[in-house]
Amino acid sequence: MTVQIESLADWQRTTLGGDLRAEDIGREVVVTGWVHGRRDHGGVLFIDLRDRAGLVQVVCDPDRAAAHALAGDVRLEWVIGVRGTVRARPAETVNPDLPTGAIEIVAERLGVLNTARPTPFPIDDSAEVNENTRLRYRYLDLRRPSMQQKLRLRHDVTRAVRAHLEGHGFIEVETPILTRSTPEGARDYLVPSRVQRGAFYALPQSPQLFKQILMVGGIDRYYQIARCFRDEDLRADRQPEFTQIDLEMSFVTPKDVMGMVEPMIADIFTTVRGRPTPQPFPIMGYAEAMLRYGTDRPDLRIALDLADFSPCFEGTTFRVFADALAAGTRIRGMVAPGGAQLSRKELDDLVGFATGEGARGLTWIKINADGWQSPAVKFLSDAEKERLTQAGPLAAGDLLILLAEPAARANQILSQLRVRLGERLGRMTADADRFLWVVDFPLVDRDEDAGRWNAVHHPFTAPLDADLEKLESDPGAVRAQAYDLVLNGIELGGGSVRIHRPDVQARVLALLGMNEKEAHERFGFLLEALSYGAPPHGGLAFGLDRLVMLLAGADSIREVIAFPKTQKASCPLTDAPTPVDPIQLRDLAIRVVE
Ligand code: AMO
Repeated sequence: MTVQIESLADWQRTTLGGDLRAEDIGREVVVTGWVHGRRDHGGVLFIDLRDRAGLVQVVCDPDRAAAHALAGDVRLEWVIGVRGTVRARPAETVNPDLPTGAIEIVAERLGVLNTARPTPFPIDDSAEVNENTRLRYRYLDLRRPSMQQKLRLRHDVTRAVRAHLEGHGFIEVETPILTRSTPEGARDYLVPSRVQRGAFYALPQSPQLFKQILMVGGIDRYYQIARCFRDEDLRADRQPEFTQIDLEMSFVTPKDVMGMVEPMIADIFTTVRGRPTPQPFPIMGYAEAMLRYGTDRPDLRIALDLADFSPCFEGTTFRVFADALAAGTRIRGMVAPGGAQLSRKELDDLVGFATGEGARGLTWIKINADGWQSPAVKFLSDAEKERLTQAGPLAAGDLLILLAEPAARANQILSQLRVRLGERLGRMTADADRFLWVVDFPLVDRDEDAGRWNAVHHPFTAPLDADLEKLESDPGAVRAQAYDLVLNGIELGGGSVRIHRPDVQARVLALLGMNEKEAHERFGFLLEALSYGAPPHGGLAFGLDRLVMLLAGADSIREVIAFPKTQKASCPLTDAPTPVDPIQLRDLAIRVVE
């Protein structure tokens, strides 16, 4: 079969087919798009034509012989043009599920603009397709309505962000992609310089230093929809290249920055969700978050709190707990209402999970109506039981979980048990957005293995003024002017007020183990800029991909990125990364070592 391909010149569309409604009945239209479906109803042929607005039904009657014959030839995903008249569908064929379901186009003429090979998967939201295949043929995947919606949502979010920030005097400034290493805690992607052999650019992990320097440059309010690059292990909410909504402001406190972006985020959620977003967002100190949830990004949809039960075990004869308390380890855990219904197998699984994470054990106690049930119950005195009952408070039907492990491990385990038990016991409000600002982070934490202090955020975060004097004497106690916005257990964004004094910046770099020479080699340009009248400033960055993922209800950020990378950081469509021509390598003075 030879198909005559027609020129678009004869097929200038007059409307999008998916936009046609009952008001259009009687209109003569030209529509173009893809053949989404085709049915033969005893001589009359029906084509579902798809364009970016949706589907419309095209009817080809045998009395229009040419159009009818061509309709018999077209195949799925061919690109066609249709000239015809909009008419009401016969009552019995009206489709209330389709926005165009009241009408159809009676074709007078059909033209083929391009043919298509049979597609490797149906262009249909209900088709379950392996992700690698979807990414390999992303252009087909993008034709699916759900993908179109997600990209449109992403566009709407960036548009709302721009409108909000521009309304508050921010200007968008582009910062370099070929730059030098910005420490955000990941590995850099390096780009070799051809003209300076042996020298490398780094792709930015964020525009952090440039946006600070823009403040020194008097820009005052900067934003950028900024591409960032981080060579780190990938997860569902991480990509090697991702996009930040990045902003910086001069003469601000943490409250000013939080107050600037909170209504922007709330408005976006209100619009997309179609329900009000409660404001102000709650604010919680880091220390409280760790104590109550074991994590600095708690999922507040889960109605379970951790607690410190150590006081209940003062003077205990239960060896495990006595030894722990003597070693300064706290006994923490949680009361899970309704948890007494858990089976022995489920409890064993919880213990297995804890020991798998390195705990020596996990104590569980079922508060049954007829008494306490636990492998540990024989070690507990009546006084201890009474204290636990008061502290819990414990009621019949509850499950008490107790863990005696050093803080870091206890947090790691308990935060995850909280989520598991919350889900298992139905203590999770699924259909809600629970925002939380976490503030007063520690400035640094200790890496015992490496024997040094690391920045909790990045090295440019300002300490609380009140804690500045402890910078050298008690670094672990210094709090930062930093804030993270958490939604449903996911970190949406974070930022801080920055160090604007070169002397303070030098002290922090020294605390992080950088001697003066090293500090000057790596960040001399920043220290120098700070010394020329840097204004007090601060800012924040949201992960745009994560934001859209949560809005779309998607379970991976790959769903809201047009061309994402796989878990192995490759692109199945282009096959990147690929080996390169040896001549290119020679030009760059690079040799690959096997
Ligand atoms: P931070 O490193 O916290 O801060 O990044 C800000 C936000 O970016 C998102 N994000 C990511 N999203 C997808 N894939 C990744 N690999 C990835 N890494 C981070 C997260 C995160 O909250 N310069 C500072 C911001 C500042 O201080 O102003 C910064 O980059 O949503």
